[in-house]
Amino acid sequence: MEQLRFDNRVAVVTGAGGGLGKAYALLLAERGAKVVVNDLGGSLDGQGADATPAQQVVDDIKASGGEAIANYDSVAEWDSANKIINAAIENFGKVDILINNAGILRDKSFIKMELDDYRKVMSVHLDGTFYCTKAAFVHMKEQGYGRIVSTASAAGLYGNFGQVNYGAAKLGIAGMMNCLAQEGVRYNVKANTIVPTAGTRLTFTVLPEDVIGKVKPEYVAPVVAWLCSEQCDQSGIMISAGGGYFSRAAIVEAPGVIFDPDQDITAEMVINKLDQIMSLEGAGEHGSAIEHAGSIMSKINSK
Ligand code: NAI
Repeated sequence: MEQLRFDNRVAVVTGAGGGLGKAYALLLAERGAKVVVNDLGGSLDGQGADATPAQQVVDDIKASGGEAIANYDSVAEWDSANKIINAAIENFGKVDILINNAGILRDKSFIKMELDDYRKVMSVHLDGTFYCTKAAFVHMKEQGYGRIVSTASAAGLYGNFGQVNYGAAKLGIAGMMNCLAQEGVRYNVKANTIVPTAGTRLTFTVLPEDVIGKVKPEYVAPVVAWLCSEQCDQSGIMISAGGGYFSRAAIVEAPGVIFDPDQDITAEMVINKLDQIMSLEGAGEHGSAIEHAGSIMSKINSK
C-alpha cells in the first residue's frame, strides 16, 4: 500500500503541546504536512498559560526535518480561535486540516459542580470546537477541500460519574460534526469524530498504571491521520480508538413499535410494549434527521 502522505497540506492541531494532539502533530508533520501546533499551555483544569509545550513540539518537528509553527492562543474565545486559523493562513497560505483536540477537565459530582466548572469546560470543548471550525470552514469551502476531526469521549457517549459538564460538551461535539458533515458535502469538507482512549495527563489519575503504557497516544494517531487524509471518503462518523483497538461507534435506533396514530395512545399501551421498545434487535443508523423523520412517516403510513 502507498504510504499515507500530507505533502502540500496545512494542518492545525489544537491542544498539540502534549498528549494526543502532540502525537497527531508529529505524525502529520512526519508525513509531510505543514503544521500549526496550537496550545495554550494551561493546567489540566484550564488555568494559566505557557508557551513551552507548543514550542517544544515545534522544535521536535523541525529537528526531524518537518515544518511547523507554534501558536499559543486559546480555542475558547472567538477572537483568539480566529488567530489560530489565521496563523495557518498567514504562515502557510491555507488550512486543509483541522483537528479540534484541545481540552481540560473540571470533574466533580453534579451536586458539587460549580457553574464555573460547567461554563469553563463547555467553553474550551464545545465553544472551542465551534469557533475553530467556523474560522477554518470558510477557507475550506472556498478551496473546495477540508478535513475536520473533532474529539468526543466515551463519557459523552456512554456516561461517566463526575463528568456532567464534560460529557455534555463531548456529545455536543459529536452532534456538531454530524450536522457539519451534511453542510460540508458540497464543498468536499469532511467532518468526523474521534473517541480516543490514551494515557495522557488527562487520564493518569483514572487509568491503571499498567494500562497507561499500553494506551499510547501514538496508537490513536493512525486513524486520525486517515480521517485527515484525501483518502478518507467518510463524513459524519465516529471512530473509537485506543491501545491498538479501532472501531466505529454509532448512534442507532431500533425498529420499536408503532401504534395507530388515529387512535388514543395511552401510557399503559406503551408500558405493555416496553420489551419491544427497549429491544435493540434490528437497530440501525439513520443518515440524517430527515431520513429519521422519513422512517417514522413510513411506519405511520404503514398503519
Ligand atoms: P492533554 O491534557 O494532554 O491535552 C490537552 C491539551 O489541550 C493540553 O496540552 C492543553 O494545554 C491544551 N488546551 C487546554 N485548553 C486549551 C485552550 N483553551 N486552547 C488551546 N489549548 C488548550 O489531554 P489529552 O488526553 O491529550 O486530550 C486531548 C483530547 O482528547 C481532549 O479533548 C480530551 O478531552 C480528549 N479525550 C482524551 C481521552 C484520553 O483517554 N486521553 C479520552 C477521551 C477524550
